[in-house]
Amino acid sequence: MSDSGANSPDPERVISGAAQPDDDNLDLSLRPRRLAEFVGQAQVKDNLGIGIQAAKLRGEPLDHIILYGPPGLGKTTLAHIIAQEMAVNIKVTSGPAVERAGDMAAILTALQPDDILFIDEIHRLNRVVEEVLYSAMEDFFLSWMVGKGLAARNINLRINPFTLIGATTRFSLISAPLRDRFGSVFRLDYYETADMELVVRRSAGILGVEADAEGIVEVAARSRGTPRIANRLLKRTRDYALVVADNRVTGPVARDALNRLRVDGLGLDESDHRLLTSIIDKFNGGPVGLETLSASLSEDSDTVMEVWEPYLMQLGFLERTPRGRVTTRRAHQYLGRPWKGLTEADDQGRLDGF
Ligand SMILES: Nc1ncnc2c1ncn2[C@@H]1O[C@H](COP(=O)(O)OP(=O)(O)OP(=O)(O)O)[C@@H](O)[C@H]1O
Ligand SMILES: [Mg+2]
Repeated sequence: MSDSGANSPDPERVISGAAQPDDDNLDLSLRPRRLAEFVGQAQVKDNLGIGIQAAKLRGEPLDHIILYGPPGLGKTTLAHIIAQEMAVNIKVTSGPAVERAGDMAAILTALQPDDILFIDEIHRLNRVVEEVLYSAMEDFFLSWMVGKGLAARNINLRINPFTLIGATTRFSLISAPLRDRFGSVFRLDYYETADMELVVRRSAGILGVEADAEGIVEVAARSRGTPRIANRLLKRTRDYALVVADNRVTGPVARDALNRLRVDGLGLDESDHRLLTSIIDKFNGGPVGLETLSASLSEDSDTVMEVWEPYLMQLGFLERTPRGRVTTRRAHQYLGRPWKGLTEADDQGRLDGF
């Protein structure tokens, strides 16, 4: 499966949310098939559930949907669930895979009534291909030019009603005219701790892993609110338990296994530690500009911004300010580094001022 996202660098990081070659089978076998099985994301699930029921009652296809959010949170999973719940076929493609307007036209004309067309990485569609989609999405009508100059002619064609589901990790890169043609936009966010425990428990059940409550909590806590990472860490922990413990994932076994993978109690790896300590040590806690910071880590700035930073910001360890990145008191406490900034009382004073 190639739904890893274009911007999926550092494949070697065990805590990367992007799909890795090893994940394919795991992703498939652990993927929830029905909405009821899909853990967490309550608001998205509720709204989708209602939309699906309404569309079925009306006997119409669903509105076009955008699913967006960080890698590994369940966008592809949801697209397949929607097809299953609507009892329709799903045709899967991706932004970079459709190169010419004619390719898109061929895909659209082959759709059966009410089919779902899933376009992964939809932000990577090129403009000519995108333009074929506009009238298709609005009126189920195709209109595109074939040939050039005097030989050019316009082709118009009616197509079957369908639902487009677009997935992206980069919502802001979807062009405005395309974005406007979607009826619903659902944003997936990092999962809450309790939901992550449910994800790990469910996966352990399916994989037949014997895990106690503490073991589950330990794996969940280190999975960065991302089911794909949870599944990967569970699998690695299971292997460790098989080899060095009596095949049971307990708290201490999970801790050992994950410490050996150099994933700490919050799911941070060496790169995360390196980012935080370099702001603290080299830039005195910041603010430091993204370019300067990235150069000091020998990483490109897009990777730092899109892959390294989001989870650190989610934890409240890193802030983006107009003057650059700063580490927070919470980060300093976690890393056992002295905090020279505002005191807690100052913070409170600042907040009271609003
Ligand atoms: N809500 C959930 N409950 C249980 N497991 C889940 C859930 N969401 C995702 N997963 C698991 O995580 C795996 C990765 O999810 P999925 O492939 O849908 O992510 P994605 O958002 O499409 O990622 P990418 O941006 O890399 O394409 C799934 O195969 C499934 O095993
Ligand atoms: Mg996907």
